[in-house]
Amino acid sequence: MTAQDEAKKVAGRKVIEEFVRDGMKLGLGSGTTSHFFVRELGKHVAAGLKVTCTTTSRATNDVAREVGIKITDPNDIGELDLTVDGPDEIDRQFRMIKGGGACLLWEKIVAHASKRMITICDETKIVDQLGGFPLPVEVVQFAWKQTERMVSRLLAEHGIADVVIVRRMRDGQPVVTDSGNFILDCRCAAIPEPERLEIELNQIPGVVENGLFTRESQGMVVGCFDGTAYVAM
Ligand code: 5RP
Repeated sequence: MTAQDEAKKVAGRKVIEEFVRDGMKLGLGSGTTSHFFVRELGKHVAAGLKVTCTTTSRATNDVAREVGIKITDPNDIGELDLTVDGPDEIDRQFRMIKGGGACLLWEKIVAHASKRMITICDETKIVDQLGGFPLPVEVVQFAWKQTERMVSRLLAEHGIADVVIVRRMRDGQPVVTDSGNFILDCRCAAIPEPERLEIELNQIPGVVENGLFTRESQGMVVGCFDGTAYVAM
């Protein structure tokens, strides 16, 4: 296991120790860091911890089932106590870019269905300003090139346009999300007003959701390469 994987794993352990309690309803995030957390959670469930869980992607469903965590349909769980999820980038106000794994729509729905969201990451994910990681925007397949043009135009108005490309798999076919949509990856450089951009992107017809999460997270648990982890709130 790499030092970075170890850091993700200690973050997963720490978030359970600090925030997960018996009887909670949990949202389980997506991506490799969240999957380390889900695997750690599986050990606690096997040892008797009682939690009710829903997830933010089909991939996380698979990992959860593998480690013996029963998944409840998000329609049947009601308000969640806590969602634990990972970022592609996070700043010190806990604003994030997410969607590197194409799960941003379900992730945002589940985060908003929760009383609290705590982000888990390794120390490489913390940035001074969002925008180094290409911003994912989920769009419906219908007329996606028209939507792409509108997205590029808005980014230009924000002074951050560079390249917008549809995400593709190795065989050249566009990536299709768990909800059947495409992903546009927008290379932005620094994003000066993430809150405003998050809202304005979602006003473009054809945009389903974007990967800016500026209001969801109330804190982060950071795993470090020296094997320690800390909480920032
Ligand atoms: C998926 C996501 C992931 O949470 C994000 O990409 C982080 O993934 P990882 O922990 O593998 O770096 O937003 O859509």
